[in-house]
Amino acid sequence: MGVPRPMTKEVLLSAFGGESMAHMRYLFFSKVAVREGFHNVARLFRAVAYAEEVHASNHYSKLGGFDEDASVNAGSPIGPGDTLKNLELAIRGEEFEVNEMYPAYIEVARHQGEKEAEISFRWALEAEKIHAELFKEAKSFVEKKEDWRLESYIWICPVCGYTHVGYEPPEKCPVCGASGSSFKEF
Ligand code: FE2
Ligand code: FE2
Ligand code: FE2
Repeated sequence: MGVPRPMTKEVLLSAFGGESMAHMRYLFFSKVAVREGFHNVARLFRAVAYAEEVHASNHYSKLGGFDEDASVNAGSPIGPGDTLKNLELAIRGEEFEVNEMYPAYIEVARHQGEKEAEISFRWALEAEKIHAELFKEAKSFVEKKEDWRLESYIWICPVCGYTHVGYEPPEKCPVCGASGSSFKEF
């Protein structure tokens, strides 16, 4: 696979930067949540951090033989706070990706015939929708100073980052088709 066309390359780099930072932010947020006694919220942040790592890796791999210095625009709401604040930042970040970033990036890649980049963006978009909803649910508990009530597990598809809550993973990933037995449990 060669280097993608310039505009697709730009948006791949930006998405790579955004996902990489989301990965680190959520790991940081999980430590804050542990300190505050919100252990299921911490587990959610760790699980979603892994999904963002999958997205970052997918985008990075689509850069092909790209080999030059790059400054990356990884726009996101930043500013560490307590867990309630961190959940608000996380929701804003995920909603930006769902409503602004990925729909626009998908169009760039589609317009340029960059199928692999387009698929990488589509896979991420599907997971971000779920992340936004899960963070909202967790926030509704933390607002009452309670931990997110979750007895089951959070499962992440290692291929596309699809995120599933339940006692078992789905048989097959509904987004990319990977086997449920490959899912990572949190
Ligand atoms: Fe992501
Ligand atoms: Fe996400
Ligand atoms: Fe998947």
